[in-house]
Amino acid sequence: MAKDFARMEDSNPSGNPTIHDVSDPQRRVFVRGGLAAAVAGLFGPLAGCASTGSGGSNNAVSGLGRSIGFKSVPMAAVDQVVVPEGYRTQVLYRWGDPTGIAGRMPAFKTDASDSADDQALQAGMHHDGMAFFPLDGSNRGLLVLNHEYVDDGLLHTDGMKTWSAAKVRKSMHAHGVSVIELQRGGAAWQQVLPSRFARRITALTPMTLTGPAAGHPMLRTAGDPSGTQVLGTFNNCANGQTPWGTYLTCEENFADYFEGTATPDAHQKRWGLKKGNGAKYRWYEHEERFDVAKHPNESNRYGWVVEIDPQDPSSTPRKRTALGRAAHEGAAVALTDDGRAVVYMGEDSRFEYIYKFVSRDKVRPGGAAANRDLLDHGTLYVGRFDVDGTGEWLPLEQGKGGLVADKGFATQGDVLIKSRQASDILGATKMDRPEWTTVDPLTKEVYCTLTNNSNRGAPGQPFMDAANPRSNNTMGQIIRWKESGDLDATKFAWNHLVLAGDPKQTRYEAQGNVKGDAFGSPDGLMVDARGVLWIQADVSTSTLGKGEYTNLPNNQMLACDPTKGEIRRFLLGPAGCEITGLTATPDLRTLFINIQHPGEPANERSDPERPLAVSKWPDGAGRPRSATVVITKIDGGVIGS
Ligand code: FEO
Ligand code: CA
Ligand code: CA
Repeated sequence: MAKDFARMEDSNPSGNPTIHDVSDPQRRVFVRGGLAAAVAGLFGPLAGCASTGSGGSNNAVSGLGRSIGFKSVPMAAVDQVVVPEGYRTQVLYRWGDPTGIAGRMPAFKTDASDSADDQALQAGMHHDGMAFFPLDGSNRGLLVLNHEYVDDGLLHTDGMKTWSAAKVRKSMHAHGVSVIELQRGGAAWQQVLPSRFARRITALTPMTLTGPAAGHPMLRTAGDPSGTQVLGTFNNCANGQTPWGTYLTCEENFADYFEGTATPDAHQKRWGLKKGNGAKYRWYEHEERFDVAKHPNESNRYGWVVEIDPQDPSSTPRKRTALGRAAHEGAAVALTDDGRAVVYMGEDSRFEYIYKFVSRDKVRPGGAAANRDLLDHGTLYVGRFDVDGTGEWLPLEQGKGGLVADKGFATQGDVLIKSRQASDILGATKMDRPEWTTVDPLTKEVYCTLTNNSNRGAPGQPFMDAANPRSNNTMGQIIRWKESGDLDATKFAWNHLVLAGDPKQTRYEAQGNVKGDAFGSPDGLMVDARGVLWIQADVSTSTLGKGEYTNLPNNQMLACDPTKGEIRRFLLGPAGCEITGLTATPDLRTLFINIQHPGEPANERSDPERPLAVSKWPDGAGRPRSATVVITKIDGGVIGS
């Protein structure tokens, strides 16, 4: 979901140190001195900030290295998916298509008259993060994908003209996660229907809270005095995939679903729970637990990373409290040399933080069952990015760094549930909306998209700092770091891969230093197995084609060889969509992406009487539908080569 610049949550009033020593905009954008120059040597040759990437020398996939061979796609205002010459696309699993549960596969009704019960058996709306789990090499597998949020103007035949408990149930069923089975047949992929793996997880699916905060008094409600049993997950944005075969789905803007009170307490304020929030989805009108005045603890049960075993449709999803509470964007998983799990996580809100979790135990052979409790024990850190190009991971541990009882942190559960407040106290760096993180499998460098932050440097708001160097940052940047040693290190060196922007813009801060095709608002991010960095843009529909985005009327996906820094446009999406979700088969010959909210109007609410006003994608008739797009090369080659 792209967030409208004017309406973004901005709940961090803390006085963490910010850096006021860079006032010249030229210096602000391009220059950092001192130790930064020294640490630049840790990276490679790109504008003083590139990668040690081993390129093709460590390439297990194809011998192609990180090379990018396609011809760049020109930017254009189109209403289709455009890929480079030599590539083809296929649309799969549109909103409303059956998930594939045996004997229960209701076909989508083009007037959106599908019932709430039907919706629980069909693709949800607004596809987001996803992962491919191979069952038979690169020819068959499970695709697990998030359904982030809904446009109620499209979801119901008459939109929101009337409102009812049934509509709320349908909306709740259109959220969550899908597990579908896919197989390749020649050049095309098909959904396996039915499949014994097929599953829908929704905002009403029972799940458990596990880890140090489970059972905490702040997680107990009238419906669940134990503080361990939760109904559902929602606003599932990006994701992660563990080496032991499970899927991580991340709860992002949960505050939008709760109707706050006129007199929020400090905790509610810090988590953006405001009076009027509930008007967006109107769940609280029929589901009392979303009314903060009546159930003040319910919202604390959201904002977690949820682990799902896609191979077992009867398994209970687990909300892993050890990973901390946040408006979680994604959760990129990698391993230390001795086999412990490291999870990098961004919190996508203005002036929020980047987190890292290191598991206590090593991953065991034996898949999901053998690692059932792995993410319940470990250390959570928050990042501080210093002006000299180094940084430190600050432990979110009760009793350390001022996280003590008289500050409201009597237990580790307090720290994890109030991770924002704890990070404020530790002096973490307030970032420009951290979205996806990804770990380069060849070098273990970590990348994170900082999508934009137009409040940076505004009166009364945090000033620019070295990691977030532009005021009124409408274009975003990609930051990266290399740990000092193994991935569990507490120190790192960092720099920017790129400050996104459009060189044709007159405002200096909107120009950036992109070497290649212009873009802004980077969001989805993945370094693939051969080291190509894929970047997906999520410019909000209220901004596309306007202001700094005048020359960028559509969202797009790009590819970068981080050792060279050149960025090339690979794909354009249909009108009014976001490009998100990124996963590939192990042979890198099939890439899956998602088109989210094609045809979304600037106010994010479609007119049910004019559903095609912005986009006719993908069916050319009826309602625009989020869908998965399969990308293959016509010659069967590696994507991007
Ligand atoms: Fe759901 Fe921050 O994107
Ligand atoms: Ca976004
Ligand atoms: Ca996103």
